[in-house]
Amino acid sequence: MAPEEDALTPSAVTEFGESDFVVVANRLPIDMERHPDGTTTWKRSPGGLVTALEPLLRRRHGAWIGWPGVAEDDDGDVPGGGEPILDEDLRMYPVRLSSTDVAEYYEGFSNATLWPLYHDVIVKPIYQREWWDRYVEVNRRFADATSRAAAEGATVWVQDYQLQLVPKMLRMLRPDLTIGFFLHIPFPPVELFMQMPWRTEIIEGLLGADLVGFHLPGGAQNFLVLARRLLGANTSRATIGVRSRLGEVQFGFRTIKVGAFPISIDSAELDQKARNRNIRRRAREIRTELGGARKILLGVDRLDYTKGIDVRLKAFSELLAEGRVKREDTVLVQLATPSRERVESYRVLRDEIEREVGHINGEYGEVGHPVVQYLHRPIPRDDLIAFFVAADVMLVTPLRDGMNLVAKEYVACRSDLGGALVLSEFTGAAAELRQSYLVNPHDLEGVKDGIEEALNQDPEDGRRRMRALRRQVLAHDVDRWARSFLDALAGKTETISE
Ligand code: ADP
Ligand code: G6P
Repeated sequence: MAPEEDALTPSAVTEFGESDFVVVANRLPIDMERHPDGTTTWKRSPGGLVTALEPLLRRRHGAWIGWPGVAEDDDGDVPGGGEPILDEDLRMYPVRLSSTDVAEYYEGFSNATLWPLYHDVIVKPIYQREWWDRYVEVNRRFADATSRAAAEGATVWVQDYQLQLVPKMLRMLRPDLTIGFFLHIPFPPVELFMQMPWRTEIIEGLLGADLVGFHLPGGAQNFLVLARRLLGANTSRATIGVRSRLGEVQFGFRTIKVGAFPISIDSAELDQKARNRNIRRRAREIRTELGGARKILLGVDRLDYTKGIDVRLKAFSELLAEGRVKREDTVLVQLATPSRERVESYRVLRDEIEREVGHINGEYGEVGHPVVQYLHRPIPRDDLIAFFVAADVMLVTPLRDGMNLVAKEYVACRSDLGGALVLSEFTGAAAELRQSYLVNPHDLEGVKDGIEEALNQDPEDGRRRMRALRRQVLAHDVDRWARSFLDALAGKTETISE
């Protein structure tokens, strides 16, 4: 047996569990926090994957397998004592990661190799053999844990780039399962993916699923090309649709379906919340605190180099310098959740952003009136909604983003039809939110023009745009996303075999 094959062979065969519907993701929806006095508390995990999946899994009373967000180096200290953590309507199975696992599997291979490679190599991916070995080992641990939790014939839905080997490992352990895989980030062009030293193993890992899903048809099409080129598989060649016209890969004795399913949010819930009186009051307070008549530009992101936070700061700074935006009239609020802080490229980014914020405030701010308000912490959900309600212009300027749920959240919060969305063409959301102010984040002049237009939009035109955006976001919510994926997994969607 070749060493690579050996590396993908799972270790344990297990008994059946009791859950009929299981989600497997790197993170649980809640993160454990350990305090100096030895007590622990839980908080919501960061990122769009959790935002999308948590409400859905609760409604289905499913099981969730994932890492509780802290390194566990001593045996006696597994959260939940190795037992599932039971919540009202969710059963959570923690997977333990040691500090070496966190360094090599999570910070290393997942976030310093795969993340930059899949996001157009905005920073250079690092390829390290020990990280790959650890990725294989941790994927095996997730497959084992899933195998123990899933009932006979259960449906298992594996999520995202951290777990691309789990479908194959799980199929070997439990051929009775129906296995879906969904990638929450972009799937890169073939030319970039070919850099990956373990490219064949990854494609083979994914092909363990019955259905492999991407946000956009382009990602699905890239995957078909790689299955042909790297594994010599027969695949369909016709264009894949959105939630329709699935592609097919013939591999071994199996047929794997491939499709595009743009993810979304719990739009109705957010719409409801944003209409709440207390949230409206908080939004008015925010406006007053930020200087009454000033127009508010808002950015809300994990502090990640893919998000183009630097792009919007530079554009804002130049608009101020050119007098196209007046410092007395405008304020930019940037809410940035800390993310992957021990990964070098994230440290460098944080320094750059904070230097730029300091620079802009030094040039254009007044005592007590900075022109950029920057918060480096997660904002409580209700406050965040109030910020969305208060913002005149939402700035979403990623250099590359699989979807970007923040753009959809903003739209869902604007039942008043106010506000304007400036959106990068390099997000998955841009394919759906065509009535936003679409900008190319690599074209600084274009970004400046987009921001200026959005700030000065004719109110009637603004309402027309927002109405159209809302129609899209309210009709295509996260339930529809899940339903379309699970229907396709159950064989209810038309495929194209030519
Ligand atoms: P990603 O998954 O890459 O982080 P998304 O835009 O798809 O990007 O999802 C981000 C999620 O995290 C959204 O639900 C958003 O509201 C939330 N979020 C982002 N920044 C903050 C912040 N500063 N405080 C609280 N929540 C945030
Ligand atoms: C993105 C990824 C998720 C990830 C989230 C937060 O949404 O697609 O898989 O969980 O970012 O990142 P983190 O590294 O903190 O889990």
